[in-house]
Amino acid sequence: MQAFINGMPKAELHVHLEGTLEPDMLLALAQRNRIKLPYTSPAAVVAAYDFHDLPSFLSIYYRAMDVLRVEQDFYDLTYAYLAKVHSQNVLYAEVFFDPQAHTSRGVSFATVIRGIHRAQWAAAETIGIQSQLIMCFLRDMSVESAQLTLEQSIPFRDWIIGVGLDSDEKNNPPLKFAGVFAQARALGYRLTMHCDVNQDDSVQHIRDCVHTVQVDRIDHGVNSLEDAELCEAIRERGLGLTVCPISNRFVVQSLTSSEIRDMLARGMKVTVNSDDPAYFRGYLSENFIALQQEGDFTRDELLRLARNAFEVSWLNPAQRAGYLKQLDAYAGLALA
Ligand code: HPA
Ligand code: ZN
Repeated sequence: MQAFINGMPKAELHVHLEGTLEPDMLLALAQRNRIKLPYTSPAAVVAAYDFHDLPSFLSIYYRAMDVLRVEQDFYDLTYAYLAKVHSQNVLYAEVFFDPQAHTSRGVSFATVIRGIHRAQWAAAETIGIQSQLIMCFLRDMSVESAQLTLEQSIPFRDWIIGVGLDSDEKNNPPLKFAGVFAQARALGYRLTMHCDVNQDDSVQHIRDCVHTVQVDRIDHGVNSLEDAELCEAIRERGLGLTVCPISNRFVVQSLTSSEIRDMLARGMKVTVNSDDPAYFRGYLSENFIALQQEGDFTRDELLRLARNAFEVSWLNPAQRAGYLKQLDAYAGLALA
């Protein structure tokens, strides 16, 4: 089963680029940029990963980003992620980045996106993995800051497929950013928002995303299962849900395998993703493997999850069809 999962053509739709910062790269970038860290070994970095909910994770995640200073740092981070998941047969990735986590430290928007974009291009050329970029606003910052970030993105419009919303959801509901998201849509961006698991008013946040903001996708969104009408609206609109099993184990102490199966049974387009693989210690294959082991998923169910990701991706139709054909060929071989 592990070989089947690893070989399966996959797409990842929910991964934070800054969440792919591995301990060895953290140490190497600190040294390159002459930054003093309280750690000297990767094991010591991992030993300090003390998180049990979203805020405790976020504080470690933001602190580590301080080592990202110049364009080459963003290039190296991006290239390393793409090369890593290429080895797991991820054919295509939609990658989040958090510009405000960098511009707020004095690193320019252009520095960040030029490094990322150059690495995407190089990885496509040299190893053949395709990717697109999703710009996330930090929901615990102001609407004005999100607005400014949207404006900063305009010269790079062609390098960004969509916008998202991440960071701490407590007291930062989707409607806080409804105006910014409406402007983003007018600029041609696709829309998604995090609806993290078990937040205050989780179900209402998902309703507001679907009915008011009218997102094209939902990140996490597991609590939609608490409202049958909402599930039906999500199914009917074909909205993808990007669920992150190992991340969920860290922040809500469950891989949510029974919820994922429930979504599949309801015909909702649920997908499997890694979220912050360097922190949660699992890339896409490890997430599929953990899920399969806990929930005893069949090959057909795993193929359905992989198919959903290509279907709800923001690829153009010809590219999507090409990837689905590869997945069908793999399924045909595997099930023959
Ligand atoms: N939720 C909210 N913000 C985040 C996450 C997440 O899972 N990962 C990185 N930033
Ligand atoms: Zn996330």
